[in-house]
Amino acid sequence: MSNNSINKASVVNRYLQDRLEPKDYADAFAPSNIALCKYWGKRDGELNLPVNSSLSVSLAHLGSHTKISRSEDGSDKVRLNNKDLPSDSDFSRKVIDFVDLFRRGQKIPLIVDTRNNIPTAAGLASSASGFAALMLALDDFFSLNLDKSVLSAFARMGSGSASRSIYTGFVRWDMGSRADGMDSVASQLDNRWPDLCIGLIKVSSARKPVDSRSGMQRTIETSKLYPSWPEQAGSDLITLEQAIDEQNFAQMGACAEKNAMSMHATMMSAWPPLVYWLPESLAVMQQVWQLREAGVAVYFTMDAGPNLKLLFETASLSVLQTEFPIMEVIQPFSD
Ligand code: DP6
Repeated sequence: MSNNSINKASVVNRYLQDRLEPKDYADAFAPSNIALCKYWGKRDGELNLPVNSSLSVSLAHLGSHTKISRSEDGSDKVRLNNKDLPSDSDFSRKVIDFVDLFRRGQKIPLIVDTRNNIPTAAGLASSASGFAALMLALDDFFSLNLDKSVLSAFARMGSGSASRSIYTGFVRWDMGSRADGMDSVASQLDNRWPDLCIGLIKVSSARKPVDSRSGMQRTIETSKLYPSWPEQAGSDLITLEQAIDEQNFAQMGACAEKNAMSMHATMMSAWPPLVYWLPESLAVMQQVWQLREAGVAVYFTMDAGPNLKLLFETASLSVLQTEFPIMEVIQPFSD
């Protein structure tokens, strides 16, 4: 990690007018995303600047919807999925800290109401869509009219993967090189892949024992394999973009699976070891490998948790639904 003395507030301040012009209400939606080439490791923990560039596919209509309105009783309120959260909860604190970057000490008490429509059974993280939706709603609420790449940079300061959730479809997050991170932003690829399916397989909904931030830090500090990761991720990104361009599903699936396994190898070689898998995760992987041996074009990817995301095309949908009855299917480009 760098000794970067630039903090979030100093970066944001350069883009804001002196006088805020708050509205009474704003709302926004941002999709969740699944990385095919993973972000794993920060070169700057304050700004969430990554060690490597990454690439994801967005989950279309599945994500977070955030509404911001004025709070009449003078205190901030944070709601998540129709429940009022205590002000000292982790989620409330993160949301209010982020809002404060834009409110800059002015007394504008707010209600921030977030609803995730990601199927709860899917076991997907929601910090990416959550911070992207919050950023978009703040942009509207304070009439900031920021460029999309600035919105992506600011969402990244909430959670790295949120930089990608500002866009839909295939999205590449360039690591950038500037100390203030303003070139560490996502952009959308033009490509679409109408036949692409993502199958969510939840093997556990328990909270992950080590969150991504701490997991990344531990991996960087202790894994002897980690130094090979940025190079691996760099070449996977090129292979994936080429596979997407050529709609070469086998190349895309194999590269995404290899990338996820390489990331997990760096985690497992950390100390203490970071093993996000459960026995059931490995059982699903083995089922996928057997299906592939039998000629079904299916691959998987996994994040910092035990759940799997299968990658396949519509031609394999019915056979996979029979194999994995609990799977939830998303077609990112269906409309
Ligand atoms: C394994 O974006 O959740 O899902 O920046 O600390 O909030 P923070 O981490 P986060 O990490 C996501 C890690 C990943 C890979 C990915 O989505 O690229």
